[in-house]
Amino acid sequence: MQQRPVALVTGAGSGIGAATANRLVATGHDVVAVGRRPEPLEALRADHGEAIEVCPADLADAERVVHVVRDVAARRGRLDVVVNNAGDAWQAGIEDTDPARFRSLVEVNLVGPAAVVHAAWPTFLAQRRGCIVNVSSLAQFDPFPGFFAYAPSKAGLHLLTVVAANEGGPHGVRAFTVAPGVVDTPLHRRLVPDGVDDAFRLDADTVAGLVVACVAGVHDDAVGTTLAAVTPAVAPFVRDWMDRNPNGGVRIMELHR
Ligand SMILES: NC(=O)c1ccc[n+]([C@@H]2O[C@H](COP(=O)([O-])OP(=O)(O)OC[C@H]3O[C@@H](n4cnc5c(N)ncnc54)[C@H](OP(=O)(O)O)[C@@H]3O)[C@@H](O)[C@H]2O)c1
Repeated sequence: MQQRPVALVTGAGSGIGAATANRLVATGHDVVAVGRRPEPLEALRADHGEAIEVCPADLADAERVVHVVRDVAARRGRLDVVVNNAGDAWQAGIEDTDPARFRSLVEVNLVGPAAVVHAAWPTFLAQRRGCIVNVSSLAQFDPFPGFFAYAPSKAGLHLLTVVAANEGGPHGVRAFTVAPGVVDTPLHRRLVPDGVDDAFRLDADTVAGLVVACVAGVHDDAVGTTLAAVTPAVAPFVRDWMDRNPNGGVRIMELHR
């Protein structure tokens, strides 16, 4: 078995995924870089050489995703970390989001990541060790209008974290959700071409720092929870949501039949 821990990062060609791949290599990992376009993944490999393995795959193709993850684990004899970072986002009203359009986003943002976790799971259990970081969004609990598909896909992604943390905890598997606010990446520039105030915007490397801190065990007291990655200017909005939704928005109704 090789010595360097192996981390699989989806969406590793740009934004938060590329920054995460860079940081994981810097902290001694071999990184399996997944995304649709080979070119940005090859650029990452050009920067780091053999520490990067390029594995093009479309998250919407769950069978291909399962094959990629199982193949990596079998060839390498280990798989230590999966970062479900790849995602798509667009804004559309409910009236413009028919079931086919809704399903297409859920395939990428939720079914694909579930396929990654499913395929990595036997290796994690056999090793009695594994770490999952799911990159969600503040939209998982406080969606803007137009996130009729995006918000449920990210809320579901967080629940993958909860289930994996609950089921995997006794087997040494840790799972986290990192939910960024605004991050300066191609995805956000596409969504908001005019940009946002600097005070509200993180850079991809800062969010990657939080992802890698989860991997490193810095936030093990927060396994199974959401780490909201926001600037100080955005934090009051998150706190306001928490004030308006005490107990996470759950009201216990003790009923008698
Ligand atoms: N930027 C923000 O403000 C922000 C805020 C909250 C949450 N997020 C989340 O952060 C994550 C990373 O996004 P980012 O902001 O870093 O944007 P990004 O730079 O556009 O990165 C998205 C990555 O996902 C990959 N990807 C997209 N669809 C894919 C598919 N079907 N199969 C495989 N890979 C796919 C893309 O590569 P290919 O196109 O080559 O496939 C790309 O490398 C996303 O899950 C996003 O929802 C971002």
